[in-house]
Amino acid sequence: MNEFLRTLGHLLTLFYYWIESMILFFVPKQFKMKDVTDELVLITGSGSGIGRLTAIKFAEKGANLVLWDINENGIEETAKLVREKGTKAFTYTVDVTNREAVYKTASKVKEDAGVVTILINNAGIVQGKPILELDDKQVEKTMNVNALSHVWMIKSFLPDMLQNDHGHIVSIASLAGLGGVPRLADYCASKFAAVGLMDSLEVELHAMGRKNIKLTTICPFFINTGMFNGINSKLFSILEPEYVAEEILTSILCEKGTVIIPRSFYVLIAMKTMMPNRSLLALHDAFGGSESMDLFTGRTKDKIH
Ligand SMILES: NC(=O)c1ccc[n+]([C@@H]2O[C@H](COP(=O)([O-])OP(=O)(O)OC[C@H]3O[C@@H](n4cnc5c(N)ncnc54)[C@H](O)[C@@H]3O)[C@@H](O)[C@H]2O)c1
Repeated sequence: MNEFLRTLGHLLTLFYYWIESMILFFVPKQFKMKDVTDELVLITGSGSGIGRLTAIKFAEKGANLVLWDINENGIEETAKLVREKGTKAFTYTVDVTNREAVYKTASKVKEDAGVVTILINNAGIVQGKPILELDDKQVEKTMNVNALSHVWMIKSFLPDMLQNDHGHIVSIASLAGLGGVPRLADYCASKFAAVGLMDSLEVELHAMGRKNIKLTTICPFFINTGMFNGINSKLFSILEPEYVAEEILTSILCEKGTVIIPRSFYVLIAMKTMMPNRSLLALHDAFGGSESMDLFTGRTKDKIH
């Protein structure tokens, strides 16, 4: 009987949070946003693109930044833009796939800047080749940067968050972490792994009763940063980096869980879980998904936002 009542209680909680989220949907976002003044935000891959723009947006909110990238010039440029907003920026040139370097640099960050309270795993790479044309080393690199590095980062920064009972971990994953795309098998596998890691961590923290450690997983469609140069989208507009960075900031400040950008894809992802695979392939053909990567060139040396 006790077991029955406990299960009933959990089911009622389920509906409570569901209804709460529906009500909160109508509350203007400024009433839901947390204050990040003086929080210490670490962003990997902040030497360009979404990482850089998100760093600037956090600086505008009064947060101090820890900037990690393999590209030294890139993070120094981002640091300059952050400092112009009046907050601190600490820069570290580090390859996030190098586990020992991650652990060592994490200790250095604590000495130099203090305890990281918001960790944003953003560094990412793409190869953009059919699976049989992928070099084994390229596949390993994609998995290492886009997924495994998140484990090293979480292992480095979660202990202090647990100790202080305060923290937020963010994964800049992708819509490619929720559905497949041709020529992106390794990339999708890495992004599915990143999403799975966050899903699992959320349940693990919940089971530990650690509700003050927040998690946010961001799954955007293609963004015009240069990373996916040459991409062809028949129906949906390629997203502007500025818009995506603003959505990332708002999602973190509102402590959202999994966020799909743009919102229209919530419907497609829900449909994906219900329709047979052959219907899904027809949907890909209808929306141009099958040939979306045909003219892909990726980042050359052009556009760095
Ligand atoms: N651009 C898109 O269309 C798109 C769409 C969905 C998700 N995303 C994801 O958003 C994130 C940011 O992408 P972006 O478009 O800003 O790309 P970007 O290429 O502009 O930025 C990626 C950054 O990661 C850094 N980086 C790469 N390997 C690294 C390593 N080993 N160690 C440390 N830093 C490393 C790069 O130097 C670069 O500054 C990525 O995770 C990407 O997969 C991008």
